[in-house]
Amino acid sequence: MMNYKDKKYHVVTYGCQMNVHESEKITGILQSLGMTSIDKPELADVVVFNTCCIREGAEDRAFSNISALKKYKAKNPEMVIVVCGCMPQQKQGKYDFKTKLPFVDIVIGTHNINMLGSYLQQISENRSRIFEILEQPVDSCEITNVVRDDKINAYVNIIYGCNKFCTYCIVPYVRGRERSRAYEDIEAEVKELVNKGYRYITLLGQNVNSYGKDLNNGMDFATLLSKLSQIEGEFKLKFMTSHPIDFNKNVIKVMKQQPKVAKCLHLPVQSGNDEILFKMNRHYTIKHYYSLIKTTKRQVKNVSLSTDIIVGFPNESEQAFEDTIKLLKKVKFDQVFAFMYSKRTGTPACTFPDQIEESVKNRRLNKLLREQKFINKHLLNYCVGKTYNCLIIVKNGVTMGLTDGGREIYLPNDSGVMENHFANVKVEGIRNHKLSGVIK
Ligand code: SAH
Ligand code: SF4
Ligand code: F3S
Repeated sequence: MMNYKDKKYHVVTYGCQMNVHESEKITGILQSLGMTSIDKPELADVVVFNTCCIREGAEDRAFSNISALKKYKAKNPEMVIVVCGCMPQQKQGKYDFKTKLPFVDIVIGTHNINMLGSYLQQISENRSRIFEILEQPVDSCEITNVVRDDKINAYVNIIYGCNKFCTYCIVPYVRGRERSRAYEDIEAEVKELVNKGYRYITLLGQNVNSYGKDLNNGMDFATLLSKLSQIEGEFKLKFMTSHPIDFNKNVIKVMKQQPKVAKCLHLPVQSGNDEILFKMNRHYTIKHYYSLIKTTKRQVKNVSLSTDIIVGFPNESEQAFEDTIKLLKKVKFDQVFAFMYSKRTGTPACTFPDQIEESVKNRRLNKLLREQKFINKHLLNYCVGKTYNCLIIVKNGVTMGLTDGGREIYLPNDSGVMENHFANVKVEGIRNHKLSGVIK
């Protein structure tokens, strides 16, 4: 029987913040077994691959990295390899772990990561492979022993799953229906993190604006955000992701009124064309999206905006694609995460006619990224003269202010006395394509 005490683990994470945070929980489980971390997977006793299946590329990357361990496992048969997360949770996934990766010991999905400790125990007693993909989430799957990597930013789940079923997206199939966490649990976790000195706390959910709908106690996301911002201490709240159909005036009001709510918003638009949005099952029009952006910009001073875009969705004409470029030029996002549409087996869009060729998707993606780069350059000038409430950090001996949206503003070195505190920073100019300023 293998005793995990003093053994080494290595965790590899793919995918979204949700997964990054789940890996922090996995780390908590491994450390509670007495294990310590090691940089190189090939030298570890336990290797966990926490996977993502949002696009084919993510799956291929994970599969090839897992496969690369085969030769090390051959040398060290005691090595335990675990694959978990969204990839194995798919009903019709591209890779069949049972037959394609016989050297993987434990394959679990998204609903039973909390059981990892007992699966490891089980495999140490009897080396037969474990395949356990649960159809439904288990009620009490709260994991409290989280080991966080970062000393400044911390993640807190507020809602799991997604009910939206955008036609391109696999998430609702691998993460199940929406489940909001109890307010008391969220509040206790945020308080604990504030006491530990975390400065940015990001509330996580596939669609945070749905928070509370399933609780039937009158709680909604705006109320949650407002209540959490009453907590004592030096910190700011961020949240992601918001959906344009549920993000609303009440949330904007809390963003405006509460200094502890960060002045940044990630609002995925996906496309700038109404017909495509309809086929994506996004339930909003570009007109609605613009009105949200307009209100947010007007109400929340110096707000930083970011978005997600999919290019090459089935039937996307050149004109529809240009509508997306037009939108980027009009809104001027600080950050754009753009992806080529990737067919996901089991989702409606996978079987839509008029799929777009890879070369066309590629060309559109590159054009979009070029346009966005140009917009970004322009945005830097726009920051000059403005004042941002920043977290003062010292990186490689250089003092900077970090805006809520993640922009770095170079500061005189004596500002370093304010390290790890929030302060107002006025941007005075641009040096080497970077902002520079002073604490006001
Ligand atoms: N819940 C979040 C995040 C979903 S995944 C949201 O609703 O915004 C993150 C991004 O991946 C999505 O916003 C979308 O832009 C992209 N994405 C999802 N499915 C995709 C697919 N099949 N192909 C390409 N990009 C996809
Ligand atoms: Fe996917 Fe849409 Fe849900 Fe986001 S809202 S996770 S894109 S189905
Ligand atoms: Fe990927 Fe799963 Fe997140 S598919 S994007 S890791 S919810």
